[in-house]
Amino acid sequence: MEIQTMTALSERFPTPFYAYDLELAQKRVSELLSIFPEETNPRLLYSFKSNPLPALARAIREAGAEADLTSPGEIEAATAAGFEFSKALFGGPGNGAEEIDAAIASGVRRFSIESWQDYEVIGAAAARANVLVQGLLRVNPAEPPKAKLAMSGVASQFGFEEEDLLENGSRRLGQFAEHVAVEGIHIYWGTQVGGPEELAACFENAVQAACQISETAGFPLKVLNFGGGFPWPYAKSGEGPDLQPLRAELKRIFENAGAAKEADWWFESGRYCSASSGTLVSRVMDIKDSKDRRFVILDTGIHHLGGMSGLGRIPRFAIDLIPPAERTGELQKMDIVGQLCTPLDLLGRNQQLPEDLQIGDLVTIPNVGAYGVTGSLTGFLSRPTPLEICHRGGEVESIFQIRRGHGEVSIENFPQEPVSEALSNA
Ligand SMILES: Cc1ncc(COP(=O)(O)O)c(C=O)c1O
Repeated sequence: MEIQTMTALSERFPTPFYAYDLELAQKRVSELLSIFPEETNPRLLYSFKSNPLPALARAIREAGAEADLTSPGEIEAATAAGFEFSKALFGGPGNGAEEIDAAIASGVRRFSIESWQDYEVIGAAAARANVLVQGLLRVNPAEPPKAKLAMSGVASQFGFEEEDLLENGSRRLGQFAEHVAVEGIHIYWGTQVGGPEELAACFENAVQAACQISETAGFPLKVLNFGGGFPWPYAKSGEGPDLQPLRAELKRIFENAGAAKEADWWFESGRYCSASSGTLVSRVMDIKDSKDRRFVILDTGIHHLGGMSGLGRIPRFAIDLIPPAERTGELQKMDIVGQLCTPLDLLGRNQQLPEDLQIGDLVTIPNVGAYGVTGSLTGFLSRPTPLEICHRGGEVESIFQIRRGHGEVSIENFPQEPVSEALSNA
């Protein structure tokens, strides 16, 4: 983000805040769409989990993406952002009847099916609503295409085991046929998969698995959802790899895709679409020397950015803190911490920062539009959540703030007697 834009916003709005450049998000969506060959009849699904902010999601929709949804809150955000639910996909493990009922009531007709239990829950919900929905079987492939991809091809709570579908698919998949048309495969290999070569390796494996499963289990392959994993730096400066060479790879894979040539090819992306749009703007609150270390204390921390790194989902100690341009002193190692009362509130260790950095300086962390607020510990220590400001070239369009207020919910919203009693009295 332009430094002038950041400074101008900081004069109007209190730090810390996230500023999202909607034009950048749209540019990224166009880049991705330009990679998918027309003959694949491609569809790009925006993964709301990376950032559900309706204004940002609306910009992403206007650039040509549909919705990849996993929760009632994401459905609400997608409604506000004007997505067409008949083109959306709803998925995720362990969904209950209420979630699926709500998705169907919103108009969702495509579901990623994660297990036999999920198949049953979706089948029952579709029967209750008396609709026919389309199901994509999410598959955990027998093997990962590369060892480092940890979310697929290893033991996982996501998707059917490939072997299970090959063995039992033809016998069990007719069970809810009246209300669930199983017509495709969904394989999500992981996040930050890598450049064109790594992505192509995953996609090629997906084609093979999808053809084999659909043929053996006896259902048509109308949709093949490749997941995504399109990479972008997280809280670091710079850009993701050039993905244009993937277009030729996809064309090559399509030529040899057998039955998958008849399918529509879908791709999912959260990070690539939203990451570059977001910058976290913060202020230096204190600078302290302790023993052999210098600590820079910011008015932000793991409650606003990357708290989930503790879960290993987001890399640690890797942020780039951009100091003001006028700080030109010699670089010195400093630890960047926040205001939380825990040593875990560490955004970067041994960062090289100018020695003349001062209390009150405005600093920024780039590339945090994806999994910034959504990947954070917003409830911890009751500090305010950051403002989230959507703008185009500095022109503010809308402002959001999640978890405003103390969150009390009226007890009247809940049944007065235990649900089990209400059922037995019915
Ligand atoms: C099934 C599925 N689809 C899409 C995504 C989005 O991934 P990314 O933000 O890396 O594009 C995820 C992330 O965990 C996911 O689990």
